Amino acid sequence: PSLDEIVNLHDFEAVAKAILPAKAWAYYSSASDDEITIRENRAAYQRIWFRPRILRDVSVVNWSTTILGQRSSLPVYISATALGKLGHPDGELNLTWAAGKHGVIQMIPTLASCSFDEIVDAVVPGQVQFVQLYVNRDREITKRYVQHAEKRGVKGLFITVDAPQLGRREKDMRMKFVDESGVAKVQENQSGVKKDEGVARAISSFIDPSLSWKDIPWFKSITNMPIVLKGVATPEDALMAYDYGLAGIVLSNHGGRQLDTARSGVENLMEVVAALKTRGPWPNPKFEVFVDGGIRRASDVLKAIALGASAVGVGRAFMYSFCAYGQEGVEKAFQIFRDELEMNMRLIGARTIDELAPDMVDASGIHSR
Ligand code: FNR
Repeated sequence: PSLDEIVNLHDFEAVAKAILPAKAWAYYSSASDDEITIRENRAAYQRIWFRPRILRDVSVVNWSTTILGQRSSLPVYISATALGKLGHPDGELNLTWAAGKHGVIQMIPTLASCSFDEIVDAVVPGQVQFVQLYVNRDREITKRYVQHAEKRGVKGLFITVDAPQLGRREKDMRMKFVDESGVAKVQENQSGVKKDEGVARAISSFIDPSLSWKDIPWFKSITNMPIVLKGVATPEDALMAYDYGLAGIVLSNHGGRQLDTARSGVENLMEVVAALKTRGPWPNPKFEVFVDGGIRRASDVLKAIALGASAVGVGRAFMYSFCAYGQEGVEKAFQIFRDELEMNMRLIGARTIDELAPDMVDASGIHSR
């Protein structure tokens, strides 16, 4: 279909499935084991209901916000997804260009298929980028990468903590890894690539499973970027992150690609916020909670924010949007979010992101099956 015929973010997924080579589709769409968690990521939002307020003069609604102190035109950032070139020859640059044009923040993946510098070189003045980190067994490589990112103007460091070992994504494992241009870059940046495995396993052998809380002070010593842990799932760990003086956490299960039957991020949100409230008033300007996984509608975004998140991350929906349509597809995905945000904010009676509050949703059935 032409881009005009794309009406919602699900449409991009259908197109990606139809046009992508089997290997790319397997890598992008797969989740671990029985793919229960990826299903739950969508289902959890469908168990949260709105409590819309009326007669609030919603003639003007505004969904812009700040994320880690940086302006963002959407309450949504582009989460790190590896190997963009499996989906489109311009890879992650499709996201960078679209994000620059529309004031959206992109998180650059360690395993990008464009080089880090290519992605940073493509920004327009004022454009904000974050970087996602897989911590290398060789800490010198990690230190150089982090310090280079900071020097190049990146505004936030997201350390992925839910992947000491990559999940078994069986669809992906059934595909044999064959080297390709995009993947070769990853190899240059990080480590030896092993043949004869699924894409995910092949590119991830450098990740250090010994990473622990003891490393956190070291990260704080090598960078002034705000540090966020990506892949937190419990109030216990949320409090530890807070007490270690970090800038925030992402409640995430890696798009269902890591621990299967882990709960969804939004399902963990309420108890995490409740725990953090024991440390001070919420929202807390010193510590932000983000959520990702399964977000396909502006209504999902608004539900997470109403429950205490400051913004949400989106992975697959943006990836799928560039597979057939490149940069324009990503721009269309932003447009869909804007259109849906405008309508939903009017219909629930929230004029700004700050007006979203827990009493605008009924999440009492969120844990029911
Ligand atoms: C990811 N994700 C991810 N996360 C990360 O920290 N480093 C990475 O390299 C990747 N790579 C990656 C590749 C692909 C194909 C997918 C689908 C996901 C996880 C990503 O940042 C995010 O947590 C999820 O994608 C969010 O779920 P949705 O939006 O895809 O449902």
